[in-house]
Amino acid sequence: MNPTIIANWKMQLGLGESSQLARQMVEWTQQAMPSVSLIICPSYIALQSVGHELHGSIVMLGAQDVFWAERGAFTGEESPLTIRETGGSAVIIGHSERRQMGETNDQIGRKALAALTHGLMPIICVGESADERTRGQHEMAVQKQLTTIFRSTPPPNQGQIVYVAYEPIWAVGTGEPADPDEAEAIRVLIHRTLIDLYPAELVDRSFRMLYGGSVDANNISNYVQPGRYQGSLIGTASQKFDTFTKLIESVAPAAITQKETSL
Ligand code: PGA
Repeated sequence: MNPTIIANWKMQLGLGESSQLARQMVEWTQQAMPSVSLIICPSYIALQSVGHELHGSIVMLGAQDVFWAERGAFTGEESPLTIRETGGSAVIIGHSERRQMGETNDQIGRKALAALTHGLMPIICVGESADERTRGQHEMAVQKQLTTIFRSTPPPNQGQIVYVAYEPIWAVGTGEPADPDEAEAIRVLIHRTLIDLYPAELVDRSFRMLYGGSVDANNISNYVQPGRYQGSLIGTASQKFDTFTKLIESVAPAAITQKETSL
């Protein structure tokens, strides 16, 4: 299975910059043919223009958040229907930068349900704070997030994919990634927790586990390996063409080599 690389452009790029980087990525994927699944998540307002650039390419479009209702008096929120209209097929839910502004596990669960209902692949972020890690409560924190979020979520249907991204808050945007073995221990815990909630066969078929938090070209292979994490959620390193393509090349060396030898 190809690894999944998800770009979270946050609020870092303007409209022109987003379209330009999306166009560069499309051109690059057409030449390099990396053996990865790629999803780019620009800001809401850039969804349509980036969607236009990505149309017809292998690069998928995702949003950075979604509201649980389809329509209504919800100022500033975005409907899953509108995200679908832009060509979006995935959505980040419960990113720590939103949790820090007050988003709760219950709200994240409602958003996950809305995403699944409307055919969007949820990319659900979990992860402990620095304080929870210091007090040795990281496992409990992640488990609680998962059980609350998935408590009211029906099992994904055949063909639906749910991403669970382990992103320790202290590793996001800090340049201090988690220790690979510690991150792996949490992956095992996430897998075990999901198996307590859903049939094992369903978990293996429908869930993909990602690591995120200060991932770059030099460290991604510590996390994304067969039998370990199946992909990564990337912030900083996804926001520039050079760092992003270098990172992808480091998890998809086979396709690049193939292309080079065929030249
Ligand atoms: P980072 O961000 O790669 O800059 O640490 C990751 C994320 O926010 O998902």
